[in-house]
Amino acid sequence: MASSTAVFGSTGLTGAHILSILLSSGSPATVQTISRRAPKSAGPTLQATIEPDTSLWASRLATLTPAPTTVISAVGTTRAAAGGLPNQWKIDHDLNVELAQAAKKQGVRNFVFISSDGIRGPLIGRLPYSRMKQGVEDTIKGLDFEHAIIVKPGAILGTREVPHQGSFLVNGLIAAASWLGVKDKIGQDAEVIARAAVHATRLAEQGKAPSKYWELKQADIAEPTTNGADRPLIIGAPTGPEPPYPLPMEGKVIAGFGRGSKELGIPTANIPVDEFSPQKQWITDIDSGVYFGWAALRLPPSHPDHVSSSPSSSGFTIYPMVMSIGYNPFYKNTVRSAEVHVLHRFAADFYGVDMRLLLTGYIRQEKDYAGLEALIADINFDCEVAKRSLDRPAWKPREGVVVGAAGAVVADGTLDCSWLLRPIGER
Ligand SMILES: Cc1cc2nc3c(=O)[nH]c(=O)nc-3n(C[C@H](O)[C@H](O)[C@H](O)COP(=O)(O)O)c2cc1C
Repeated sequence: MASSTAVFGSTGLTGAHILSILLSSGSPATVQTISRRAPKSAGPTLQATIEPDTSLWASRLATLTPAPTTVISAVGTTRAAAGGLPNQWKIDHDLNVELAQAAKKQGVRNFVFISSDGIRGPLIGRLPYSRMKQGVEDTIKGLDFEHAIIVKPGAILGTREVPHQGSFLVNGLIAAASWLGVKDKIGQDAEVIARAAVHATRLAEQGKAPSKYWELKQADIAEPTTNGADRPLIIGAPTGPEPPYPLPMEGKVIAGFGRGSKELGIPTANIPVDEFSPQKQWITDIDSGVYFGWAALRLPPSHPDHVSSSPSSSGFTIYPMVMSIGYNPFYKNTVRSAEVHVLHRFAADFYGVDMRLLLTGYIRQEKDYAGLEALIADINFDCEVAKRSLDRPAWKPREGVVVGAAGAVVADGTLDCSWLLRPIGER
């Protein structure tokens, strides 16, 4: 039976990331949402239902076709947004309970709930926020799903007042955090939680969950650091890339073996490594391994992620990227490939599109792994290394439009990336 996942809370911070991850990975075959407003992400696998009346969501769940095999609820609001505690209770508690019960009735196999950590202490456990979450968790546990996953992050910053290790993060603090410029970090936190939730969901669907009722605590959610403890999060001097970098590369995006999206949840855009490519001078000699840098894509106006940029950019838009060059020892490929993972969630594929690359540095050697999870954890760590290393003035492009955590912005760095924006045919 084709799998289908229904996401509730898809217009909230964490839910939006969950939706975007599911859509961009092309798995499951169908992603359904029921939300008050239209979700921001789009994609061929999405079936979105708009239902402004949340009291109808549970009954709407029963009418979804195909019937979802997995339901993920990231439903939650703030007391302020709800207009008081009783209204917040209706959403954070009652709606989640109704959804879990309706899901069970419909034969949903896996139920995933984005809850919160630190809600069961002797004092904190008596707070209304804690009691709402406890009520939902206990209901889900009692419903005896094939798998129930409770994701328990510390604070999902930016969304609400959350008891966090005995203290309260109030909205003023969050506003101050945004004002101080750590908003990207806030967005990332929700993205990290979303990635952990989707990853755990996939494991459960594959029968690999460690237990029927699985609580994902803060340490399970955090970006991988243990296997990266011996490797730095920032690579290269603050003064910018050093020779032989930056290295240019280009080609039209071709299909790989297709495992990237499906198995890893990490889509890759491959470019040909052959004797006709401009990179042939160095690509055969360069060490196999993981690199980071910038990718420029010339997406057609019909592509959902197309960004209209200045004429001088020749239709190219710049994104941060990580890249693997080599034989993928985990998969034991016999041909050398050059695979780019662009650090952006695209709403649609872009095979055949012109891609330019500027490799700015080397992260690590390719490795073989005991299991898929370890490979995914290492690649996620690579992504973090790339993001942080590139987020410095001397590593950021000085021209063009760059799509990063804050959306599409005019380049504000000092790195000469003119190669990325040159008209096609010009070297
Ligand atoms: C940043 C990054 C790091 C990677 N590191 C490794 C690695 O250490 N070992 C490995 O076997 N494959 C590595 N890969 C390659 C993945 O295994 C590869 O993307 C996967 O085989 C999917 O390829 P496909 O889409 O062509 O099927 C890496 C890929 C990326 C994007």
